[in-house]
Amino acid sequence: MRPQQLIETARALVADDKGLLAMDESVATEDKRFAELNIPQTDDARRAWRELIVTAPGLGEAISGAILFDETIRHSTKDGIPFVKVLIDAGIIPGIKVDAGLTDMAGHPGEKITSGLDGLRERLAEYSTLGARFAKWRAEIILGDGIPSRACIEANAQILALYAALCQEAGIVPIVEPEVLMEGDHSLERCREVTEEVLQTVFDKLYTQRVMLEGMILKPNMVLPGLTCPIQETVDEVADATVTTLLRVVPAAVPGVAFLSGGQSAELATARLNAMNARFKARLPWALTFSFARAIEEPAMEIWRGVDANTHAAQQRLVNRALCNRAARRGEYAASMEAKQG
Ligand code: G3H
Repeated sequence: MRPQQLIETARALVADDKGLLAMDESVATEDKRFAELNIPQTDDARRAWRELIVTAPGLGEAISGAILFDETIRHSTKDGIPFVKVLIDAGIIPGIKVDAGLTDMAGHPGEKITSGLDGLRERLAEYSTLGARFAKWRAEIILGDGIPSRACIEANAQILALYAALCQEAGIVPIVEPEVLMEGDHSLERCREVTEEVLQTVFDKLYTQRVMLEGMILKPNMVLPGLTCPIQETVDEVADATVTTLLRVVPAAVPGVAFLSGGQSAELATARLNAMNARFKARLPWALTFSFARAIEEPAMEIWRGVDANTHAAQQRLVNRALCNRAARRGEYAASMEAKQG
């Protein structure tokens, strides 16, 4: 472990009101997003989309770190410049998703466990030589009748802690992502209860596995009502519930909390982050920032649609979305900042 290096990287990831871009969709997930917009699901199209992202002029004004996927960390621009170099030249720290996705949890119908610990030490060593300075691992907690079980919460928390310890051993900052899903008709209160229990359990296991809290970032869900819950709380109510929950369970030594967007609309995710910072920033021990995929990429992908001629407009919208989120870190976002036409 290199404690000072870990602390410096973690601090740099949350510095200057910037945030993370999660451009780490697996091949299957990216192909699904492309299919929805009639974009060809090919290696070339995925590489072109990611080149559009990493070469977007001004992206480094709002993005401190980009989470890549195994395929993407090995990709280069059409002119042969490795994506990792393009990012570093733009002042963006390269990161890598290292979990191997979800599998059904034995004995627990409807629940998932994240795989990928086997061989992780060796993969982290390779990613480090490829330029990754931080990594991400996502666990998924599903809300439903009788779930999540205590067994599912504990198993995922334990795996997250083992992953985080391996990352720090390799000098790589772990992004610890226990996501309580927003799919379902559960209330905000139910999401709050489960999120609190999950985060408490995760920090308990991180402590047991001797993970250095100063050298990690937490990537949680916001506390939200289920997507199909008839009662949808206001932006301020979501901000209050989320910050109250985090204050109960996230130790002050953690430098940053970087939310996933989880399927919220891009503008709503930003408005909720903005409300948290506008209302609470002066009282928080950690930075409250973003690590969005869809809430930064989706509006740009809708402009691009796989057509070269749309690249410039799509890049402008991508950077505009990233800058809106940077404004939300300061509590200064307004819907009028959205450049809808790219
Ligand atoms: O693991 C999830 C991603 O890193 C964040 O994606 O913002 O689209 O939920 P999202």
